[in-house]
Amino acid sequence: MRTQVAIIGAGPAGLLLGQLLSRAGIDNVILERRSCAYVLSRIRAGVLEQGMVDLLREAGVSDRLDREGLVHEGVNLAFGGVLHRLDLKRLTGGSTVTVYGQTEVTQDLVEARRALGRPTVYEAEEVALHGIDTAAPRVSFRANGTQQELRCDFIAGCDGYHGVSRGAIPAGALATFERVYPFGWLGLLVDRPPAAEELVYARHERGFALCSMRSAARSRYYLQVPLEERAEDWTDEAFYDELRLRLPAEVAAALRTGPALEKSIAPLRSFVAEPMRFGRLFLAGDAAHIVPPTGAKGLNLAASDVRYLFDALREHYRDGSDAGIAAYSARALARVWKAERFSWWMTGLLHRFPGSSAFEDRMQQAELDYLVSSPAASAALAENYVGLPYHGEAGIGPLQPFRDGSGPPGR
Ligand code: APR
Ligand code: PHB
Repeated sequence: MRTQVAIIGAGPAGLLLGQLLSRAGIDNVILERRSCAYVLSRIRAGVLEQGMVDLLREAGVSDRLDREGLVHEGVNLAFGGVLHRLDLKRLTGGSTVTVYGQTEVTQDLVEARRALGRPTVYEAEEVALHGIDTAAPRVSFRANGTQQELRCDFIAGCDGYHGVSRGAIPAGALATFERVYPFGWLGLLVDRPPAAEELVYARHERGFALCSMRSAARSRYYLQVPLEERAEDWTDEAFYDELRLRLPAEVAAALRTGPALEKSIAPLRSFVAEPMRFGRLFLAGDAAHIVPPTGAKGLNLAASDVRYLFDALREHYRDGSDAGIAAYSARALARVWKAERFSWWMTGLLHRFPGSSAFEDRMQQAELDYLVSSPAASAALAENYVGLPYHGEAGIGPLQPFRDGSGPPGR
């Protein structure tokens, strides 16, 4: 088998890249370890930045998103029993976020790929990368009981944190940066209207809590819990009781409870691998970086990586230029690190850290108070929350000039 771009992983990063490439006439094959049903059953994040919404529109997969996505112009911070609304739209000069589940994004992409008739090999086993630093890379795998090989020009490693792609880069060429947090998030999904119209990020002495949603009829709630907790040990009632304790009275009173559709615990981690390209292998999405979910950046970073990678591959095939390929890693990492910083900062601001001192406690309270009372501080949170521009000023590593020679545009 031969293709132009071999994509490993059919999560949002791999599927979105495949969709953009297919529409640009660039041949691609996706290899996915799990079944399609399994991929579509995963409950993940749900807040899309404007840049991701625009990219989904460009990819031709926004019909349902445009119909069903909830545009949010604000977000709430809760602390000291009081709810504070940040007007994202006003603070950013017009930007908003869209609430639409990652599961729905994935579903829309799977259907679009089916409609285009592009190949995805599900339940591909023993996926292995070969010759990534040569002009003729290959991916070997087993499917339907037979050993197969996919020859290609490039490999896109979109196989998440536990995938094989990152490991194909020689250890000496890869630097990794990591922070593991001493707590997790217990999430609950329920078919009841949300307790508040917009998201509520709550700091409380008992721990962080988040009220989110998937639609006007479906809510997603989270509680900070110790890492050793198990989701099975939490009854729905115990979850709701604890959630009410951590929310301002008005939000707690509006909470509509019901049987959980899903309940699970996710650990919190910050992780970055550099570089994001080695030879003809590109890493994109969770394969290259993980953020803690506070701030909702994981899915959005996968989208910005795909934006840069798609542009680079299109330049290669259409214009015969490899400038975008050379710039990919630095360009993606400049945005990744800023989202890492924001997610780490929001996590530190809102969670209760085991063993934290009374002084650190007061620092959190003072910072929150400052955030909601200073327009400059509110604006800094808002511009990060709605998503930094895809072509921001160079942060880490040099950015290549743009093709028209103008250099990267500012805001
Ligand atoms: N071979 C083939 N496929 C693999 C392999 C492998 N060895 N290992 C993992 N995969 C697949 C996984 O089964 C998964 O479907 O790669 C896919 C990676 O998808 P995600 O983990 O969803 O990662 P990504 O596409 O980068 O999406 C970004 O945003 O909200 C966050 O973390 C959340 O998943 C989300 C991410
Ligand atoms: C979610 O809805 O799952 C969600 C929303 C916001 C976050 C994290 C998760 O910061």
